[in-house]
Amino acid sequence: MKTLTVALPGREYNIHIQSGLMDRAGEHIRTVCPRARRLAVVTDSNVAPLYFQRVERSLTAAGFAVHGIVVPAGESSKSLEMLGRLYGEMLDFGLSRTDAVVALGGGVVGDLAGFAAATVLRGVDLVQIPTTLLAQVDSSVGGKTAIDLPAGKNLAGAFWQPKLVLMDPNCLNTLSDRIFSDGMAEVIKYGCIRDGEFFRLLNDCGSRAGVMERIEQVLYTCCAIKADIVGTDERESGLRMLLNFGHTIGHAFEVAGNYEKWTHGQAVAVGMLWAARLGAALGVTPESVEDEIAALLTQFELPHHIPCPRDVMERAVCRDKKRGDGGIRVVLLESVGSARTEEMAMADLLARLEVLHERQVKV
Ligand code: GLY
Repeated sequence: MKTLTVALPGREYNIHIQSGLMDRAGEHIRTVCPRARRLAVVTDSNVAPLYFQRVERSLTAAGFAVHGIVVPAGESSKSLEMLGRLYGEMLDFGLSRTDAVVALGGGVVGDLAGFAAATVLRGVDLVQIPTTLLAQVDSSVGGKTAIDLPAGKNLAGAFWQPKLVLMDPNCLNTLSDRIFSDGMAEVIKYGCIRDGEFFRLLNDCGSRAGVMERIEQVLYTCCAIKADIVGTDERESGLRMLLNFGHTIGHAFEVAGNYEKWTHGQAVAVGMLWAARLGAALGVTPESVEDEIAALLTQFELPHHIPCPRDVMERAVCRDKKRGDGGIRVVLLESVGSARTEEMAMADLLARLEVLHERQVKV
């Protein structure tokens, strides 16, 4: 088993990575929640038939009373209404302050169950058991939880760190190629922002099968980078923004596809190429970087281009959470493996994007 620790000021938690870990969830949770008697396990309609019974068996064997809450798979479950349902079921089950919530699923389940854990009874312990690549390398680590509001995605939430994260790489075998690629965009992002050697290792892997041969190392490397960044800047006041490489412009592609046509990872993939182009235009990123990223995206069946009207891109960028008064912090690469943030005037960024947009339309 590989283990790494997310060390925050005054508290820390472990991430365990091992094939078959799902069947030992109970014993690991018992170690971090010694007083808990009840566990509310939140999962979704895709994951429940595959893994819920196995996890339940392990939790029951460790002496926990278990209540499963199955929400419909998909982003629409990250709603106020579903949050209300979770509160109701948790309280009917008799959940108390010393008990815990377990999130068994991908990013939607982790965000929703995490926010419920952060707020029910003013906060109970949370354990993340992520079952998608995206959730394993990104959303289950670092404590961001949220639901969507009619005004936009992730607009109500909390930083609520888990007590423990359990990653079983075997879960990834049941993912479709599209959902595996979705996670690969975030994996590639870590190479881009922090680790050129890891980027080259991904190139050597060359395919989903190649990544799965080294999956524990891949998960460990991504989580180690995220743990290091989050340990320094939990609340995203500086360093953590690097994790948003490709996301500001990527968000525009998600909007353009109504959050349905393109996965988050596909949008981030194209967002990373735009960020490389922007960096080149600003003289920060060497011209060759865009091609290096594009070649790696191809290996993992991620797109290079997503159509997006200029006004949609402008609106999405203007709404970005990283914007301040008239300015925005963008994440740029100095090389593959090294990123920095740059404060730009919003007007300047929009003008640069307009030029890139026109150039793209002409190609
Ligand atoms: N997904 C980016 C972060 O956790 O900060």
